[in-house]
Amino acid sequence: MSSHLTTRVIREEHAALSAMLRSILLLLEQHRRQQTLPDFAALRAMLFYVDEFPEKRHHRKETELLFPKLRARTPLARELLDRLDGDHARGEHNIRELEHALLGFEMLGESRRNDFEQAAQRYVAFYLAHMAIEEQQVLPLADEVLTSQDWDELDAAFATNRDPLTGHEPEADYRTLFTRIVNLVPAPIGLGSPTR
Ligand SMILES: [Fe+2]
Ligand SMILES: [Fe+2]
Repeated sequence: MSSHLTTRVIREEHAALSAMLRSILLLLEQHRRQQTLPDFAALRAMLFYVDEFPEKRHHRKETELLFPKLRARTPLARELLDRLDGDHARGEHNIRELEHALLGFEMLGESRRNDFEQAAQRYVAFYLAHMAIEEQQVLPLADEVLTSQDWDELDAAFATNRDPLTGHEPEADYRTLFTRIVNLVPAPIGLGSPTR
């Protein structure tokens, strides 16, 4: 496995994001079973986080930094990278739709539970599949074709963007948000300590 900072950051951010996405589904399942309404503030915070950090920063690092270097080194993955870029471009629209579905559930209650649950399941499945392709196909290809100068440039860029969920020093705003989410989501679904 690659020891490059870039690869580690991508994998760590994927792991943190997967935990967040799975927590959303677990929370929904729990409330469906109990026939209760979820804590909407917690769900709003979780979706805002998914919107804010990964959509605006994680994907950008891939689309703007990693993928162009891969395209420059090999023609092999162009279609795949185009597809992943397409996912990144649609990501913002998708999360906006999901946030709207959540608002519907919050405003109108039970009659919109199902809509939101289905939208959340679709979104999570889409996202997990996207990250799996990156880990199984893109990162191994990067290991094969990128030069040490490519990696130096990427590592320098990636070093400036860390995710609070993975335990690295974040910007103050993201730390505050992370702490709110941890406090809002109860164990055993909770996300654990940011400094684990
Ligand atoms: Fe991606
Ligand atoms: Fe990714």
